[in-house]
Amino acid sequence: MENTNSLNFYDRALQIIPGGVSSPVRAFKHVGGIPVFVESAKGPYLYDVDGNRYIDYVQSFGASILGHADERVTEAVTKAAAKGTSFAAPTLAEVELSEKIAARVPGCEKLRFTSSGTEAVMTAVRLARAFTKRQKIIKFDGCYHGHSDALLAGAGSGAATLPDSAGVTEGAVQDTEVLPYNRVPAVDGSTACVIVEPAAANMGLIPPAPGFLAGLKAACEAAGALLIFDEVITGFRIAYGGASSVTSVQPDLWCFGKVVGGGLPLAAVGGKKEIMDRLAPLGDVYQAGTLSGNPLATAAGKAVLDALTPESYAELEKKTEYLALQLETVFFGSGIKVAVSRYKTLMSLFFGVESVKDYADARASAESNIYPKFFHAMCGRGVYFPPSPYESWFPSLAHGDADLEVTVKAAASSLSSLG
Ligand SMILES: Cc1ncc(COP(=O)(O)O)c(C=O)c1O
Repeated sequence: MENTNSLNFYDRALQIIPGGVSSPVRAFKHVGGIPVFVESAKGPYLYDVDGNRYIDYVQSFGASILGHADERVTEAVTKAAAKGTSFAAPTLAEVELSEKIAARVPGCEKLRFTSSGTEAVMTAVRLARAFTKRQKIIKFDGCYHGHSDALLAGAGSGAATLPDSAGVTEGAVQDTEVLPYNRVPAVDGSTACVIVEPAAANMGLIPPAPGFLAGLKAACEAAGALLIFDEVITGFRIAYGGASSVTSVQPDLWCFGKVVGGGLPLAAVGGKKEIMDRLAPLGDVYQAGTLSGNPLATAAGKAVLDALTPESYAELEKKTEYLALQLETVFFGSGIKVAVSRYKTLMSLFFGVESVKDYADARASAESNIYPKFFHAMCGRGVYFPPSPYESWFPSLAHGDADLEVTVKAAASSLSSLG
């Protein structure tokens, strides 16, 4: 595939942007080669600066659940932009988007918007520490909760492909306990909160084991600790009401991002009134942001949530299931061992292993080194998915049957490159 322009732009980017990228995983460190520079995207497709078209299963790491540049979203954003791009003052759109989220997530009584998932998680942890007057937080190995210091311990996503971050002091992580996913830990009276991705989507996709989330809830309740669901990926992606509606487990605090901002910078922390009202200016927990609740982002978020019905999730789950099963069929009998992992509308491939339950399994799979070969073979056939095995695939509602078929055929013809 022609990539002269990507190559030239990457060379230029390397001179002025560290690693040539604004976020590490985009640099193709795990898979090698030159990152694809994007010109535009529409529906299921990404168009690069060399005129190549790809069926895109990254979809802005899940933010674009309707597909790229959906007209309901672009119209809402364009209209909002004409009225002003940022006010740093309250707007009705923030109230409306909060109401829409709360209506879908029972128990999420109040919300505060931020510009990124990282900030939403930082705020949730700060609230939990203030509310419980405790310091310790429990997180799970391979879960990613953004790039704040305390949560970079044992972090998945882009951090999984790099050494532990320098610049994070021992003090910043001394109250963070990192434990294996899918095992209910002992939660003691010094624990402020347990934070979890209800389906782990930043070490590839690892579904919650039966009873894991309910076990966490019970352990937190018994110890007087708060349970935080980091739904930055799963929120409004796996189901109309997010993970609690699927698992019947209600946390004390939620973090949302990606889908809820419709591809614009927006995230949210939400939860019970008595906890959320601890936030400034009502309470004693400080939190702020110049662009928080930005009018373009809230317009996009409202348009996306309005477009998503319970039926949308049934449709997306069907597409995801079809793709996962067909890929399984392609690999079956090929001599290439792969676990095709799926949970609702999320999926990923783990080469070289039979099954996965935690980060150790995900790492063992990555070491098989088949993923980079598959990635490049598929890219060469016009199918783009995350350039790292520590990410999930995100089929969108815009992916049609023909796109899924082309993807499956591309996988079949890529088999010969994997030896
Ligand atoms: C589960 C989870 N939490 C938090 C974050 C951080 O969000 P952001 O990249 O918007 O800061 C991410 C990002 O991928 C995520 O997947």
